[in-house]
Amino acid sequence: MSSGYDIGRLGSEARGARSRAHAPYSKFRVGAAVLLDNGAVVLGANVENASYGLTCCAERIALFSAKVQHPAAKIVALAVSAGDDDHPHEGERTRMPCGACRQVMVEFMPSTAQIWIDGVGTQTLGELLPIPFKL
Ligand code: THU
Repeated sequence: MSSGYDIGRLGSEARGARSRAHAPYSKFRVGAAVLLDNGAVVLGANVENASYGLTCCAERIALFSAKVQHPAAKIVALAVSAGDDDHPHEGERTRMPCGACRQVMVEFMPSTAQIWIDGVGTQTLGELLPIPFKL
């Protein structure tokens, strides 16, 4: 990886970020970690609301936070970890980033960027969303 950062270590950061989730409604905790080209790691977790539609996914919180906190930096990798001990996920499908978050990744990351998904492995963004919407 360009920064020399271990993608597995980024995955550990994403796992740890699950504890930051505010998920009283779904009880489904998701943590995310993005690596920047300046070496910084920015965390995200899902934040739910009593008005359910206002919920924001962990991946988008991490990506948006990174853009605001480090406006000059490039995002080079993202890791995500979904589920928790009380509410284990059932199989690979529930671990994958949602379509909306994949589109947001495309806005900020190259198609070659590594996306580490807990329990699944590492894929490129181009594999996750091969034909994105672009202007
Ligand atoms: N969630 C994420 O944080 N990331 C995803 O990619 C999909 C879903 C969250 C949103 C909600 O808080 C919970 O998981 C259940 O949908």
